[in-house]
Amino acid sequence: MAYRFVSAEEAASYIHNGDKVGFSGFTSAGCPHVVAGAVAAKAEAEHNEGRPFKISVFTGASTGDFIDGVLVRAHAIDKRTPYQSTKDLRKAINEDEVKYFDMHLSMLAQSLRYGFLGKIDAAIIEAADITEDGEIILTSGVGIAPTVCRLADKIIIELNDKHPKELRGIHDIYEPLDPPERREIPIYHPGDRIGKPYVKVDPAKIVGIVKTSIETDTSHFAPADAVTTKIGENVANFLAAEMKAGRIPASFLPLQSGVGNVANAVLGCMGENKDIPAFNVYTEVIQDAVIGLMKEGHVKFASGCSLTVSKDVLRDIYADLGFFKPKLVLRPEEISNNPGLVRRLGLITINTALEADIFGNINSTHVLGTNMMNGIGGSGDFTRNAYISIFTTPSVAKEGKISSIVPMVTHVDHTEHSVSILVTEQGVADLRGKNPRERAETIIENCVSPEYKEMMRDYLKIGAKGQTPHSLDACFALHKEFMKSGDMRNTDLSVYTK
Ligand code: COA
Repeated sequence: MAYRFVSAEEAASYIHNGDKVGFSGFTSAGCPHVVAGAVAAKAEAEHNEGRPFKISVFTGASTGDFIDGVLVRAHAIDKRTPYQSTKDLRKAINEDEVKYFDMHLSMLAQSLRYGFLGKIDAAIIEAADITEDGEIILTSGVGIAPTVCRLADKIIIELNDKHPKELRGIHDIYEPLDPPERREIPIYHPGDRIGKPYVKVDPAKIVGIVKTSIETDTSHFAPADAVTTKIGENVANFLAAEMKAGRIPASFLPLQSGVGNVANAVLGCMGENKDIPAFNVYTEVIQDAVIGLMKEGHVKFASGCSLTVSKDVLRDIYADLGFFKPKLVLRPEEISNNPGLVRRLGLITINTALEADIFGNINSTHVLGTNMMNGIGGSGDFTRNAYISIFTTPSVAKEGKISSIVPMVTHVDHTEHSVSILVTEQGVADLRGKNPRERAETIIENCVSPEYKEMMRDYLKIGAKGQTPHSLDACFALHKEFMKSGDMRNTDLSVYTK
């Protein structure tokens, strides 16, 4: 092979202060594992010499400690987008050290192509294989890899032998043309393939290949507990009833499901529900539960941006690619999360809220309106365009000291217009066709924890007489009480009554 094999340290020498660097992958699936650590070490050495060294980091979504963690601890991140979930990075963002801006995932690749975010200097890409004429076979996640490979002046490859070369064929790499040349994206079924199985680059741009042998460990799921199981059952029963009522076709519709324990539990419950037929998945992260359901025949096909599965599940997939490859496709996030496709395919979308309000607005990102948790991720791409958009949340957080349902959310990621159904372990609120007052009543009766119900009813009584009965004095009373005493249950709304 004509490429140069280099150490991670030499690869890092190609990254300079002020560079904008794009990484492959989505969650830690498909992310390069070692070069970022060498860049962090270089940053520390530069800082010790009194010289500045920071890069801007563009990724598919969250990464892992081996990118975000090492770089942020070395004070080496200037700007960061579009989604993150690493503890140290979150802290640096909320202390205003890292300039993080939150974006809909589907929009990042095109924003880079349009030049809205500046020039990409380097791409660092994890590959299962590479040919002499520049065909890169990605690994278990795609993210923005095709776009950053095309835009970057130089490309560094991490060739990871823990991903088999036989992955060739699982990816469908397609970049839309930019306006005014853009056409419809010709996907009419979750399984349609419209692109190439590889990312094609000019081999001359590849400045070095770093060999690695690292298993990706992408997810650690807490076993479903009483609350997540009840939420899952509520979602599954709701969808089965919708089918019975003829509002979901008998063949069912493709499902998108968000990240985390609740999403995993919901999928598990859907598989167990006898009234729900085998279905397709069109989503961004393919989690453990999808693979389990595929083995059992409950999931027919899954299209996603990454295999965000635990180590053992990834081993199972790689050990039986003959079974899994025809049932899986990994796409760039601009396609897996494409709003036009979400609308066309009629997705049932299920995402998790940090906080919802009684009128149906959703906060997915900001604790007390101020501190960033992770980012909006793909939830906006899917929610706004869904056939039926569902949000789930436990009705309380922090052992009941926080009600996840409040009079007014402290940050809005998804407005009332985009949210069809709210589900907690208490029950299901169907918001379709209801005005704000009706929505508030159904959310309070069906979703709010019993210890907060009376408080929410009282809030409606003190609200103004408009279409949306808010009290601008009292709308954040629960949050202010939590900041004061550490427990929203101490809120006294009587001070706001005239
Ligand atoms: N106020 C303050 N804190 C709250 C809260 C609220 N209303 N609700 C939850 N929390 C806290 C929890 O106590 C927990 O704290 P801890 O980390 O100290 O234990 C933390 O927030 C996370 O809550 P948890 O219930 O464990 O949530 P999760 O892992 O299911 O994640 C989101 C929930 C909203 C953070 C996560 O789904 C997310 O980032 N969503 C946005 C992106 C998205 O939807 N992506 C999918 C698109 S495909």
